[in-house]
Parts: sequence; C-alpha cells; structure tokens
Amino acid sequence: MRAALLVAMLALPMVSQAGSALAVDMGCYSCHGAYPRGEALGFGQLAGKYAGLKGDASAEQKRVDKWRQGEWLEHIDAHERLSPETARALFHWLVEGAK
Ligand code: HEC
Repeated sequence: MRAALLVAMLALPMVSQAGSALAVDMGCYSCHGAYPRGEALGFGQLAGKYAGLKGDASAEQKRVDKWRQGEWLEHIDAHERLSPETARALFHWLVEGAK
C-alpha cells in the first residue's frame, strides 16, 4: 500500500520537471554545482551513482531517508531542512539523471 502510493507520487510529472529549478531554489548548486566543493559531488556524478535505483521506489525511498538523516557528526543544514516531499522530489530528479 505504501509502496503503491509512493510510486503514484513519484510518477507525478510536476515532480520530475521541477527538479533542476527546485535544486536552484534550495541552494543545492552552491555545493553540488558543475564545480563541486569539498566532499560534495556534482549532480552529474550523483546521478551516475543513483542510476541503479531507477524503477525501484522502495530502494530509492530508503536512500532518501538515509540522505536526509545525514551521517554521525556530519549534518548538512541544506539537506536536513528539506521537507520529506521536497527531498523525495530532488532525489528522484537525481535518479532520473538530473536533467
Ligand atoms: C553546504 C553545502 C551543501 C549544500 C548546500 C547541499 N549539499 Fe548535498 N552534500 C554536501 C556534502 C559535503 C555531501 C557529502 C557528505 C554527505 O553525504 O553527507 C553531500 C551529499 C549529498 C548527497 C549524497 C548523499 C549520499 O549519501 O549519497 C545528495 C543526494 C545531496 N547531497 C543532495 C543535495 C541537494 C538536493 C541539495 C539541495 C537541497 C544539497 N545536497 C545541498 C554538501 C551540500
């Protein structure tokens, strides 16, 4: 039931189209742009890393949760202040290739 709902939400066209504009709005590019800073990978690199999650909504959701929680002692405000919906939309945009 939950998985079905998630698939339906991920399929919303608005969500995938909004990806890059949303990433700009949320300030993601200041760390993950074409010239990524420090430990932050560029979005093209992240998209490559997550390509294998395509079509597997539950694996994708697990990854989103992990990303939002952050690592022990490594908390990134820009990640943590995202709502669950925004985080999912942005992550899905990456899984779909960050176009
Ligand atoms: C202040 C700099 C900064 C900003 C702003 C930022 N990030 Fe990050 N991000 C990082 C760093 C550093 C890492 C690597 C360390 C980590 O995974 O926590 C990272 C990791 C990630 C990861 C990989 C997590 C994983 O474990 O695979 C994703 C996905 C991500 N960021 C997406 C985003 C998105 C989307 C935004 C915009 C809401 C954003 N980031 C904003 C610095 C930033």
